Amino acid sequence: MSNPSLLILPGDGIGPEVMAEVRKVIDWYGAKRDLAFDVSEDLVGGAAYDAHGTPLADETMAKAQEVDAVLLGAVGGPKYDVLDFSVKPERGLLRLRKEMDLYANLRPAQCFDALADFSSLKTDVVAGLDIMIVRELTSGIYFGEPRGIIEEGNERVGINTQRYTESEIDRVARSAFELAMRRDKKLCSMEKANVMESGVLWREVVTEVAKDYPEVELSHMYADAGAMQLTRWPKQFDVIVTDNLFGDLLSDLAAMLTGSLGMLPSASLGAPMSNGRPKALYEPVHGSAPDIAGQGKANPIACILSFAMALRYSFDQGDEATRLEQAVEKVLADGLRTADLLGEEGKAPVSTSEMGDAIVAALDASL
Ligand code: NAI
Ligand code: MG
Repeated sequence: MSNPSLLILPGDGIGPEVMAEVRKVIDWYGAKRDLAFDVSEDLVGGAAYDAHGTPLADETMAKAQEVDAVLLGAVGGPKYDVLDFSVKPERGLLRLRKEMDLYANLRPAQCFDALADFSSLKTDVVAGLDIMIVRELTSGIYFGEPRGIIEEGNERVGINTQRYTESEIDRVARSAFELAMRRDKKLCSMEKANVMESGVLWREVVTEVAKDYPEVELSHMYADAGAMQLTRWPKQFDVIVTDNLFGDLLSDLAAMLTGSLGMLPSASLGAPMSNGRPKALYEPVHGSAPDIAGQGKANPIACILSFAMALRYSFDQGDEATRLEQAVEKVLADGLRTADLLGEEGKAPVSTSEMGDAIVAALDASL
């Protein structure tokens, strides 16, 4: 059997810096766990524009459709602000998401004990927190028609439309239930069925899908109440599924409960491929961080944890994903901090590559 395939798109700014640390981790798995990947690397974003005049070449797009998983760093930067909208670096990422039809965006909010003090919430509220928000990513109000700014009488009117088909709700609900089955078998669906018809349909369809997952305990919550509960006592949740707009807000809110942007991974999953695995793109939540790019200051953990998600969700290597997460936990417990994790503390930060090396050393120590 051939090795699982992985397309790496480092992108711009700190993207290549954090991806270099992921490469060390990937190499470690090949050397020490007999888990080799067929890795290919290509350009995306501003880097692709510089080389090809487009933020994502057709050949790269085709490759992304063929591999088992895509791992992306970050795109964008001030250098590209002057470009026309159609070739902006972000368009490369949007094209990947759209053509791979990645409708389920998984955003974990996980608190590493060593960083519990770093949260804006009380330590006991976040310590041990491990929840997952599933956001619908390809439909809803960001895409619905009609949209635009029109003239009506003597003033302008801004219009966006929230629109969800049954099948769009059904497929993202299934992704969330599948995830719940692998975790604590608890799913909370959030919408505003009290004031939105799309929310009424959302609740109905999720309730129907639940019949296929009798082991999962399903609850429903209005999204505004959900925002309150997420800040009051987030540990009451395990998996949350919600639409594109609410998911945008709630996933950012939940993520920040645990601290730094440099720590946050994500996965975007689509329909199952012929091998049964979902189409998948893994990427850190953060951007290209031009303010620190090229200085060895970037925290590589968000990107490394994105690879851990790939191990779990694309490569059926849940135990190895846990091993990697525990290696991250260990270096943090040992006190290693990149600059973004130091806050007011007077300690000396470690560099991007020192953090990557320490995580590889912790992987070694785990054997
Ligand atoms: P950003 O996430 O790049 O940076 C926000 C702040 O967090 C900066 O101060 C940065 O130094 C810090 N930060 C981010 N990641 C970090 C890491 N791994 N380690 C340490 N510190 C980190 O967001 P910003 O500044 O709004 O955008 C910068 C560029 O990135 C823009 O061109 C934007 O369009 C692009 N961007 C790309 C994204 C993507 O590729 N998915 C997502 C968000 C922004
Ligand atoms: Mg957002």
